Amino acid sequence: MVIILLGPPGVGKGTQGALLTESFGWERIATGDLLRGARRDGTELGRQAQSYMDAGNLVPDELIVALVREHLKKLPPERGVVFDGFPRTLAQAEALDQVLPEVGRKVDAVLLLEAPADVLVKRLSGRRSCPQCERIYNIHFDPPVTEGTCDECGARLIQRKDDLPDTVRHRLSVYRDQTRPLVTHYEEGSTPVLRIEGDRKLEHVTRAIRRSLVKQLGVEA
Ligand code: AP5
Repeated sequence: MVIILLGPPGVGKGTQGALLTESFGWERIATGDLLRGARRDGTELGRQAQSYMDAGNLVPDELIVALVREHLKKLPPERGVVFDGFPRTLAQAEALDQVLPEVGRKVDAVLLLEAPADVLVKRLSGRRSCPQCERIYNIHFDPPVTEGTCDECGARLIQRKDDLPDTVRHRLSVYRDQTRPLVTHYEEGSTPVLRIEGDRKLEHVTRAIRRSLVKQLGVEA
């Protein structure tokens, strides 16, 4: 199974993607997390990506496609995959269409999560994440038990630099201009696009995603 989680910044791709991998044992390939990991490790990729990410712009397609290709090739062929934050441009979608057959796979569905911009800005301003285990929290909707500390591993939580209001607004416009058009790309092809209303309680979104995967794709719950 290959699923693409598509949607604007803050809609819940990371949160729901992590739950999907827990429920179904799939591998989550989250390009944002991989890039932040590369930055923490001080690699050449991390260095090249830094200024794009901090400004809320997209990292060049060739760097992203090479990163995804490398990860896909390492996966056991029977393992399901959830792409979170990839593809984000038409060029990345076309590259994925070429890379997947090389590893005997194809895209089974796109899960499109959507919510109004004011909801997204509020969520992102309240997001805190664990730099160690990558668990995501929200000071308004899903706080840790002890303020500022990860429930899972005890690390100090951080606020992402690109979650500051001006950068969030820029990321939303980048999404609208460069990523949202992918919906038409997939709808015009033969890939099902499953639309999920993201502006409701976290557990309701999770339930809607599971229902849709079971009903539309026959995934076993
Ligand atoms: P990335 O890390 O992928 O960021 P993003 O797509 O902008 O998405 P976010 O992580 O901001 O949001 P999300 O939808 O995952 O929401 P989350 O679950 O955290 O990318 C960062 C940067 O890396 C990009 O700007 C770019 O520079 C670069 N990059 C990455 N991939 C790239 C690519 N393919 N090509 C080029 N460049 C790339 O939830 C947000 C908050 O809301 C959390 O606090 C959460 O707790 C809360 N929340 C979630 N669901 C709910 C709910 N239902 N109700 C209330 N709160 C909720």
